[in-house]
Amino acid sequence: MAIGFIGGSGIYDALPLRNTREVDIDTPFGKPSAPLTVGEFGDTGREVAFVPRHGVDHEYSPTTLPYRANIFALKKLGVTHVIASNAVGSLREDLPPQTLVLPDQIYDRTKHRDLTFFDEDVVVHQQFAEPYCAELNGILAEAAESATDADVVRGGTYVCIEGPQFSTRAESEFYRSQGWDVIGMTTIPEAKLAREAELAYATITGVTDYDVWKEDSEVSLEEVLENAAANETAIKETVEAAIRALPADHECDCHSALAGTVNTPDEAIPA
Ligand code: ADE
Repeated sequence: MAIGFIGGSGIYDALPLRNTREVDIDTPFGKPSAPLTVGEFGDTGREVAFVPRHGVDHEYSPTTLPYRANIFALKKLGVTHVIASNAVGSLREDLPPQTLVLPDQIYDRTKHRDLTFFDEDVVVHQQFAEPYCAELNGILAEAAESATDADVVRGGTYVCIEGPQFSTRAESEFYRSQGWDVIGMTTIPEAKLAREAELAYATITGVTDYDVWKEDSEVSLEEVLENAAANETAIKETVEAAIRALPADHECDCHSALAGTVNTPDEAIPA
């Protein structure tokens, strides 16, 4: 079993890994956001491959970052489970900054993203009613509750906007009126691509701000970055505890997600 960790805003270096190597991979979809750091995690004997989603110097925007190359590279390295982290805004009064939220649903409001590996010769209609791996999500939730001092909320809907601008107040109020919980810019297309690559995928989100629905509020980048940095420890503690807790022989439906959809061309997704 190898585990991928895609670090969101505020997470630019790997977990404590031993015998690390930098892997500079080329994929049919270009280079990943950065060379992957691969190493053994503590004494677990588990291999972890880390990629900072926005690049080492946060050089990729949510629209331009190479999602397909990142997922393809993880798959090529033999990863079976991907844990992501995302900085998010809160759409609920009771989810203040520095809360950890384990979303279980997504509403996609992106507009300019490559959402599939299969846009050349073959169409794959993949199931996506449950966009995150429920089992990995549960393991992450337990890890967050047991390994951190943070307030942890299980479940919720992550509305994913295109960015890079934050929302208007009308948009933010609309999202709240739908009962959605957190807002960010990066869980799509990652979750879709992970499913197509038959990877178990779930995310731990760290709240950085209240978005713009509160009276006279604006999101300040300073606030986002400060809270993203403050969330870093709890997110890493969560990911580390989840990696330890993941059973060595863990298998789930995500690993056969293409079954019954269509034949997979070998060159599209590496075995
Ligand atoms: N990431 C962090 N805070 C956000 C917000 N308010 N909207 C979109 N993405 C975010």
